[in-house]
Amino acid sequence: MQSEIKLSGKTALVTGGARGIGEAISRTLGACGAKVVINFNKSGERAEKLRDELRSQGLETEIFQADVSQPDQVDALFQFIRSYSGRLDILVNNAGVIRDSLLLAMNVADWEKVHDVNLKGAFLTTRMAAELMVSRHCGKMINIASVSGIRGGRGQTNYASAKGGLISFTRACAIELAPKGIQVNAVLPGFIQTEMTTRAMRRAGEVLLDRIPARRFGTPQEVANLVLFLASELSDYITGQAFPVDGGLSVS
Ligand code: NAI
Repeated sequence: MQSEIKLSGKTALVTGGARGIGEAISRTLGACGAKVVINFNKSGERAEKLRDELRSQGLETEIFQADVSQPDQVDALFQFIRSYSGRLDILVNNAGVIRDSLLLAMNVADWEKVHDVNLKGAFLTTRMAAELMVSRHCGKMINIASVSGIRGGRGQTNYASAKGGLISFTRACAIELAPKGIQVNAVLPGFIQTEMTTRAMRRAGEVLLDRIPARRFGTPQEVANLVLFLASELSDYITGQAFPVDGGLSVS
């Protein structure tokens, strides 16, 4: 029985890894010994600060700017990973955006943006990561979806469908990649306190809390804890699954 998770010798990529849930995941995987490549798009200053802090703790970390919805930028990101480490053991598709509005007011740009980052972005990175992992016959992929992807959400036709797509993508990838020694799972946060949810929580905090059986919002670290388990050998026989981290929201 393993009492402590160790990721020494492993390389991890966390997309959108410089803030919020992604930051907690970057910190957690790094603290367990993984070399972490923190991808960011616009949070350059945050990424540099996080890299410097983790390095000052003796952890191996690099940052790389890329918009995950752009194929040429994802190619550049993976070229960087090849030259930095030559391998990738853990991929966390965390980058995501919301552009909420009711169906009748939903414009095509907001529909496409949410699908491009949350779903197409995961496809682009997964395809590149699979190439690196297949050659070593091992790897862990964790997709950060959402409870909205199984429950829907008012004003979230774009987001719910993208995250629902990401859950189905997870299952389809798991079937193809299991014989190659790669496990692919999804984590479904409920309401987690980050910059993405600040406005909604300020506007409707009490109403939202009423819907959560645990009567509190989750923390980024609580999502990172499950990601750590799924990134470790402890989860080697688990693939194609979607796990809510939501204080009971999805079963209420
Ligand atoms: P956040 O807005 O703090 O972080 C999202 C990260 O993705 C940021 O670092 C942002 O720079 C990055 N990003 C956005 N577009 C990008 C792009 N095109 N390329 C690369 N990076 C990009 O949000 P939060 O809350 O930390 O969300 C993380 C993930 O968790 C997202 O996928 C989100 O959909 C999901 N999630 C969050 C929930 C919450 O309650 N906070 C609930 C359910 C899911």
